[in-house]
Amino acid sequence: MRKKIIAGNWKMHKNNSEAMQFVKLLKVKLVGYKKTEIVVCPVFTALSSVKSVLEDSQNIKLGAQNVHFEEKGAFTGEVSAEMLLSCGCDFVIIGHSERRQYFCETDQTVNKKVKKALSCGLKPIVCIGELLAEREANQTMNVIERQTKALFEGLSEQEATKLVIAYEPVWAIGTGKVATPEQAQEVHAFIRKLISELYSEKIAEIIRIQYGGSMKGSNAKELLSQKDIDGGLIGGACLEADAFKEIIEIAESLG
Ligand code: PGA
Repeated sequence: MRKKIIAGNWKMHKNNSEAMQFVKLLKVKLVGYKKTEIVVCPVFTALSSVKSVLEDSQNIKLGAQNVHFEEKGAFTGEVSAEMLLSCGCDFVIIGHSERRQYFCETDQTVNKKVKKALSCGLKPIVCIGELLAEREANQTMNVIERQTKALFEGLSEQEATKLVIAYEPVWAIGTGKVATPEQAQEVHAFIRKLISELYSEKIAEIIRIQYGGSMKGSNAKELLSQKDIDGGLIGGACLEADAFKEIIEIAESLG
């Protein structure tokens, strides 16, 4: 059975001291939850300080929100996978729709970043998802197929199993408009089928697929109960400790 993974994407919120205070609180509130993998993804500048608070945590892991695909060099403003590792990161979010939309990330750069992260031992949480116009034009599965194939391009079976996929319909992100459990399950099952075609059924059964887009305590149970939904990538509801905890409690109860 796949272990559920709930990751909080803090986006551009919380400065250093806010981040440290918040994660101290989370550490206390989330103590003892073991069935679910829990990840927090603060801004780059807070990674080291959050890690220092999490040093003695048994169950909360650290992730970054982006990574560059080169190791080092003249790339002003960018951060490498090695640098993230040196801050204590285990995970990195790659290809979030906000990065694709506002920072010109493409299927190709996403694939390069995935390869680089894996080569350093960082586990990528790779985001895919359709725009509202694409859903309305019945293009959802075509978009998902293109994004999925591109992100796995050139990855060995062993590398592929390290990935977490986050299916995030772009129209559901930060809008309060959540996909129905049936809509989400349909796409998750489709992604798993694609992976089984690219690799094998065995590999497809290992890879975890999170749902993201307005997930919160009131809708998490229905979503996380779906056969192919293995966790959540949480934006808005991860910024408040009790709201984040509520989702993790639900994941734990579904075990
Ligand atoms: P949301 O964000 O939960 O606020 O919709 C999810 C995400 O962007 O990963």
